[in-house]
Amino acid sequence: MINLAILISGRGSNMEAILKSIKKNRIPVNPSVVISNKADARGIKIAQKLGVKTEVLESQGIKGPSWDYDKKIVSVLEKYDVTPKNGLVCLAGFMRIMSPEFIRYFKTRIMNIHPAILPSFPGLHSQKQAVEYGVKYSGCTVHFADEGVDTGPIIIQAVVKVKDDDTEETLAKRILSKEHKIYPEAVKLFAQGRIKTVGRKAIIS
Ligand code: GAR
Repeated sequence: MINLAILISGRGSNMEAILKSIKKNRIPVNPSVVISNKADARGIKIAQKLGVKTEVLESQGIKGPSWDYDKKIVSVLEKYDVTPKNGLVCLAGFMRIMSPEFIRYFKTRIMNIHPAILPSFPGLHSQKQAVEYGVKYSGCTVHFADEGVDTGPIIIQAVVKVKDDDTEETLAKRILSKEHKIYPEAVKLFAQGRIKTVGRKAIIS
């Protein structure tokens, strides 16, 4: 069984979708812990309601990737037996960039969700970038994290049509409902051992 840790910073709707899907679809994953870098993240209460242990590791004032901070995450992961052998770490709106040391420690066992069709619109405010650029389609991507920002091997993408009158908010809402489908699906594929990474490619069997 895979031991899952989900890292959040706020709302936690992707975390909620993953946790509910694990229960509903009997995905062979044990939700071990939810870690937030903000004490007031709404997602913490949701996780607790769903019966999942939570931990807060405040990162206020720590700018940029920090192995010192990430080592604290590793300690919490170890406490809940989420290891590079049996674990999966899902970044779900975790608004920090992980240090290269953390990525190397957990290599190919860290997933991230991004609200755009990567490699378009990485970084922040992707939905705003899409609306302003005038693309006709955008969407979302689940990928393995690597040492870059939003650059690792792509596992699943879902496409959303952009309307002429879309705003950042209306587009974000439609993308989010797709995020809630593809992230649990990616976790399921991982748990079933159906994702193989070959170079840049995540191949699904
Ligand atoms: C989601 O839209 C996720 O794709 C985005 O933050 C939101 C978190 O919402 N992540 C990024 O932009 C990462 N670059 P949630 O807390 O409700 O899951």
